[in-house]
Amino acid sequence: MEKELTKIQEEALSAINSANSLANLNDVKVKYLGKKGLLTAMLRNMGKVEPQDRPRIGQLVNTARRQIEFVLEEKYNLLKQNELNSRLNSEHIDVTLPGRRHTLGHLHPLTLTLQKITNIFKSMGYSIAEGPQIETDYYNFEALNLPPDHPARDMQDSFYITKDILMRTQTSPVQARTMQAHNPDEPIRIIAPGRVYRRDDYDATHSPMFTQVEGLCIDKDISFADLKGTLIFAMQELFGKDVKLRFRPSFFPFTEPSAEVDISCVMCHGKGCRVCKETGWLEILGAGMVHPKVLEMSGYDPEKSSGFAFGMGVERIAMLTYGINDLRLFFENDSRFLSQF
Ligand code: PHE
Repeated sequence: MEKELTKIQEEALSAINSANSLANLNDVKVKYLGKKGLLTAMLRNMGKVEPQDRPRIGQLVNTARRQIEFVLEEKYNLLKQNELNSRLNSEHIDVTLPGRRHTLGHLHPLTLTLQKITNIFKSMGYSIAEGPQIETDYYNFEALNLPPDHPARDMQDSFYITKDILMRTQTSPVQARTMQAHNPDEPIRIIAPGRVYRRDDYDATHSPMFTQVEGLCIDKDISFADLKGTLIFAMQELFGKDVKLRFRPSFFPFTEPSAEVDISCVMCHGKGCRVCKETGWLEILGAGMVHPKVLEMSGYDPEKSSGFAFGMGVERIAMLTYGINDLRLFFENDSRFLSQF
C-alpha cells in the first residue's frame, strides 16, 4: 500500500511537471484527485487496510494529496501567467492611434438650392405654402383653366391614380389652393416648393419626378412690371448681379399674358457655348399674369385684384449653380457626389 502510494505520488508530480497547457493540467488533476481519481480510490480502499495501520496510512494519503494539490496550484499559476504573457506579446493595442470619426451628413444640393431660392423670396415678404403631391384633377388642371379634354393637358402627360386623382404635374395647384384659403381682400405672396411628377424619360436632362418652386403674388394693381422686377431681383440674387433676363411671349392656360423667361448663360455670359446650345440664353422659368378666369374660379374679382405667378425647375437651377451635367446624380444618392456640396 505504501509503495503504491509513493508510486502514484511520483507519477502525479512528474505529470504535473510536464503538463504544458491548462487543459493538460486539468486532465492530470482529474486523473489523480477527481472523483474517480487514483488517490481518491486509495482513500476509498482504506477499509482493506489493517485497522492498526489505518491512521498512519490515512495520514500518508492526505499528506500526498496536499502535496499534489500544492504543486498543481503552483503549476496552474505559472501556466496562467505564461498564457497572459504570450497574449500581451501577440496582441498590440496602439493607444496613440487616432479615433475613428463618424462622418457627418449634410444637406442635399437640391435642398441647398431650395433654401437659397426660398430665402430670396422670404426677403421680399413671401411666405412658404405647400400642397399635396397626390392631387385632384380639379386643382391640378380644372381650377387652372384646363378643363377636361383641353389640348394643353397633353403637355404634361401624367400619372393618374383614379380618373380624378393624379400625381401633381406642377406646383401650380397650390395657386388655387392658396387663393381659396384666403380672404380675397387680403394680398397673397407665397412660394410653394415641392415635387412634381410627369410621365417622362429618365436621362441626363429628364426625370419623371422633379422639383419646382411656384410663386404667386396677388394684390390690387399688380402689373407685369412687378413680375419683371421681382424675377430680375430673384435671378440676380441667385446667379449674380450681371445676369440678364429675357421675357419671351408664351402660353399657359392659367396666365395671360404668359412668358417664358430666359437668363443670360451663366457659363459663357452670353457668348454662346455647349450649355446654352450656342444661343447665349438659358430657359429658366415660366410666368405670367394670373388669368382672370383663374382668379374668378377661386373667388377673386378680376376687376379688383390682379397678380402674377411663376414656376421654376429646381434641378435646372442647381445644375447651373454647381456645374452639374447629369440630372440623375441628384437622385442616385452616391455619396461621392453628395459629399461635394
Ligand atoms: N406650371 C408651369 C409648368 O410647370 C409653370 C408656370 C407656373 C407658368 C406659373 C406660369 C405660371 O410648366
